[in-house]
Amino acid sequence: MEWFLVFVSVGVIWLASLCKILHVSFYPYGRTSFLSNDAAGSSQKRNVLLVIAHPDDESMFFSPTINQLTLAGHNVHILCMSTGNADGVGDVRKQELYRASAILKVPLQKVTVVDHPDFQDGFGKIWNSSTLSKIVEKKILDHAIEIIITFDDYGVSGHCNHRDVHRGVRKFMLDTSLQEVEAWELVSTNIIRKYSGPVDIWLSFLGAQNSHYEPIHCLLNVNPLRSYAAMSEHLSQWVWFRKLFVSFSSYTYVNTLRKIMV
Ligand SMILES: *[C@@H]1O[C@H](CO)[C@@H](O)[C@H](O)[C@H]1NC(C)=O
Repeated sequence: MEWFLVFVSVGVIWLASLCKILHVSFYPYGRTSFLSNDAAGSSQKRNVLLVIAHPDDESMFFSPTINQLTLAGHNVHILCMSTGNADGVGDVRKQELYRASAILKVPLQKVTVVDHPDFQDGFGKIWNSSTLSKIVEKKILDHAIEIIITFDDYGVSGHCNHRDVHRGVRKFMLDTSLQEVEAWELVSTNIIRKYSGPVDIWLSFLGAQNSHYEPIHCLLNVNPLRSYAAMSEHLSQWVWFRKLFVSFSSYTYVNTLRKIMV
């Protein structure tokens, strides 16, 4: 009996959270203050660079951010530091990234996939922060990028490639003389929150509100179906456990971004 009540309660909370997200997706305008700091909701379009480690990171972890930014008309670029060639299907995964990005409204010309001998998918080798920082710098200069978004120090899953990408971006921020560039990291949550699906939006809201010391923003996914469609373009990765992951992962529904202070 108790188990039944627990089950029903969880179901109700889950549904309520999903309704909240769908509600936001029908009335998305003016929902985020990220990149529009003045009260009037500045309409200035910014050049944003998302730095990821593998094709599919953009859909699996960052799609709430991408959806909000493209909806607001910002110029989103994606820099993917590897082809994801751990299983020898790097070329296929690269094409999948282009297709998924197109669904997320980031056209092919704005997606760069790096295929560098020092940055290969896998756990074998540390990705050199200096080299990574140089590649990021070139991208920043080429496209007049003002905002960088990337993994935090833990990198969602703790994958070493995600963490190395964070270190490379941090190195760039430490070394650069470009004062106007700012960088934001995707806050990694604990394992319970990570798999709580839409329910995590409430905890993310609370976390963002109670943070008085660091600039932090909570971004709801304004188009979860689009995220699902983007993920399903990664056909070589689209196995049952990833479908489950996408449905249960809080990163499908909400992103918390924290400013990287250097
Ligand atoms: C990273 O690469 C730079 C040259 O680009 C080199 O000087 C440095 O020693 C490398 N760092 C490591 C840890 O291999």
